[in-house]
Amino acid sequence: MSAVTPDPPLDPRDFRALFRRQAAAVAVVTAAAELPVGFTVTSLTSVSLHPPLVSFCIARVSSSWARMKRARYVAVHLLSDEQEDVARHFATPGIDRFADTRRWRTGPYGVPLLHDVLAWLVCRIVDRTPAGDHEIVLVEPFAGDYLDDGEPLLRHMGKYTAVARTAEVPAPRAGDGRDSFADLSKNGTRLDTKEFRH
Ligand SMILES: Cc1cc2nc3c(=O)[nH]c(=O)nc-3n(C[C@H](O)[C@H](O)[C@H](O)COP(=O)(O)O)c2cc1C
Repeated sequence: MSAVTPDPPLDPRDFRALFRRQAAAVAVVTAAAELPVGFTVTSLTSVSLHPPLVSFCIARVSSSWARMKRARYVAVHLLSDEQEDVARHFATPGIDRFADTRRWRTGPYGVPLLHDVLAWLVCRIVDRTPAGDHEIVLVEPFAGDYLDDGEPLLRHMGKYTAVARTAEVPAPRAGDGRDSFADLSKNGTRLDTKEFRH
């Protein structure tokens, strides 16, 4: 009987090149430790509705993980497309990311809450699972708020970007036989999509 050799994993450079093509919302996770901790992530995922669960991944080698691995609560902030400076700030090593006290306030259980974000959630940490060189952190939100207006900050191809929108399109009249494409988004705007050919 011959041993089955498993397929070798993808080269990390190829893996990275592939995932640069995935557009991802940019978020900042904060926690209360001895000193406040906060870091930029694109690994945020909505996992479950009943109960509400969200996950993010954090590199085990990061100083943020060393400082927050015993935290019981975190805040998760979705950044707006006007907050590229915030995303850069919370990914800059070696600085005090909370030095400017005008940019945040203290929320429930001492978690730092950033101002002017698109949406924020305060969450209880329910699980931490090692996954390769990262830790998957599963959290249950119990408080939060969001802005009615505003667009998300995205990361794509190693750059910060925003959702491209076409000019206003008139909403279709009832029963005119067209797809109510414009009904899917608010304010009569629609996502600028490319057609896929099969
Ligand atoms: C756009 C962007 C997305 C990031 N996403 C993640 C992530 O999902 N998980 C992670 O561990 N680090 C991520 N990072 C890196 C951390 O924000 C940053 O390197 C880290 O906070 C710095 O390491 P430190 O905690 O040792 O200071 C991301 C950085 C950027 C700029």
